[in-house]
Amino acid sequence: MPLVAPSLLASDFLHLADVCKLVNESEADWFHLDVMDGRFVPNISFGIPVIEYIRKAAKKICDVHLMIEEPEKLTPAFKKAGADTLIVHLETCRNLHSNIQQIRSLGMKPAVAVNPHTPVEMLQDILADLHHVLIMTVNPGFGGQTFIPHSLEKIREMKKMILKTGKEILIEVDGGISLENAAAVVEAGADVLVAGTTIFQHKDPKQVIRLLKNS
Ligand code: DX5
Ligand code: ZN
Repeated sequence: MPLVAPSLLASDFLHLADVCKLVNESEADWFHLDVMDGRFVPNISFGIPVIEYIRKAAKKICDVHLMIEEPEKLTPAFKKAGADTLIVHLETCRNLHSNIQQIRSLGMKPAVAVNPHTPVEMLQDILADLHHVLIMTVNPGFGGQTFIPHSLEKIREMKKMILKTGKEILIEVDGGISLENAAAVVEAGADVLVAGTTIFQHKDPKQVIRLLKNS
C-alpha cells in the first residue's frame, strides 16, 4: 500500500485550516508542501511563514519540496518552520552531498528530486545518504499537468538502484498522479504518491485519498 502525500498547492488557500483538518482526518500519510521561487521554476507559491502556520495545524509529517535556487541558504529556516523532510532538487545543488549533510545535521530527513530530463543514474553516489528520492513526473512549477509516460521507466530504474543499496529508501512521485495511473506508478516501484489536483479538485478529497491508498 503506497503512502499518499496530498499537495496543498491545489487546495483552497483561503481555507488552509479546513484543508489541514481534512488531511488530518483522512488516510493520507504526509502533507506535501511545494515551495517555488520564480527562478528555478517559473512560478511562486508560498514560503516559510505559511509553512509555519500549516505546521501548527498539521498532525502528520510535513514533506517540504523546495523548488528554489541555493536551497542551502534557507535550510535552517525551513527546519525552524517545521519541515520534517526536506527535498532539494539535484539541478539546484552544486554541492549536493554537503547540502544533504546539512539537512540531516539539522534533524530533518533528506531527499533529492530529479526533473523529467535528469537521468536517475545521477543519484547513484548520493542515494545511500537519502531518506527518499522524488521523481518529478511533470516539469516542476505548476499543478494540474499531464503525467509524462517515460517516468515509469525511471521509477523502475530507480527501484533497481535502491535494491542494490540494500537500504530502505523510498521513491516518491510527483506530478499528474491520477486515479487512472496510480496503480501503474505503484507497480513500477513508487512508495509515495503526491497528488494535488486529483485530490483537491474532487468533491470528495477523502475518498480520493482512500482510493489512492488502495492503488
Ligand atoms: C509541481 C509540484 C507538485 C504539484 C503536483 O511542481 O511539485 O507537487 O502540486 O500537482 P498535481 O498533482 O496537480 O500534478
Ligand atoms: Zn511537489
